[in-house]
Amino acid sequence: MKKVIFAAIVLTLPIACTTDAPRQVSADEQKALAVEGKKIFMEFGKTLVGHVKKSMKSGGPVKTITVCNEIAPTVAADLSKKHGVELGRTSLKLRNPSNAPDAWEKSVLMKFEQRKAAGEKVKTMAYKEIVMEDGKQYFRMMKAIPTAQKPCLMCHGGKVKAGIENQLSKLYPEDKARGYKAGDIRGAFSLKKEL
Ligand code: HEC
Repeated sequence: MKKVIFAAIVLTLPIACTTDAPRQVSADEQKALAVEGKKIFMEFGKTLVGHVKKSMKSGGPVKTITVCNEIAPTVAADLSKKHGVELGRTSLKLRNPSNAPDAWEKSVLMKFEQRKAAGEKVKTMAYKEIVMEDGKQYFRMMKAIPTAQKPCLMCHGGKVKAGIENQLSKLYPEDKARGYKAGDIRGAFSLKKEL
């Protein structure tokens, strides 16, 4: 009996594999996906910076922390829906634990650090790959986010003002996103699209 089941499995295996096999994604399609990804990252970045600038002017940095806390996930969710992708920000040193990288993202972030150490510019650093996860095929892409002197260091630098410090500690008791210097990789935008 066991032999029969085994034989049946072996015989059906090639059929199962053919149906699950990743489809070939042409170089042109990959290029188009990367162009679209880059556009989405730009829209994401611009929208966030727009909210931060507006809030800094009207309410100052402490209020802006709340804006980052509430607006950043909403903007990510809205743009994900609009473009039919999963969009987010992640980092090796997190402020919000719900931005934690998955295994693929973590390995890319680590490669970004190596590429920076080898002299590559952070501003244009990106990585894309077509991967299989749980039998599904995805286009995945990440783009490094550089730390700028202004305004990033106000909330992610080594010396953070007392008012900001209090608010950050309240909202993020396990905050690790401090002690950055201008030019460091603060994290990355990340995008995942099912093919
Ligand atoms: C007013 C304070 C403030 C400023 C200024 C600020 N951030 Fe943040 N940053 C935050 C907060 C708060 C979060 C957590 C947001 C959340 O809950 O998703 C955050 C999260 C992030 C994350 C997501 C990863 C993580 O650690 O959770 C990245 C990436 C990031 N910031 C980059 C930047 C960059 C780049 C700049 C400068 C252009 C910047 N931030 C300026 C407060 C700030």
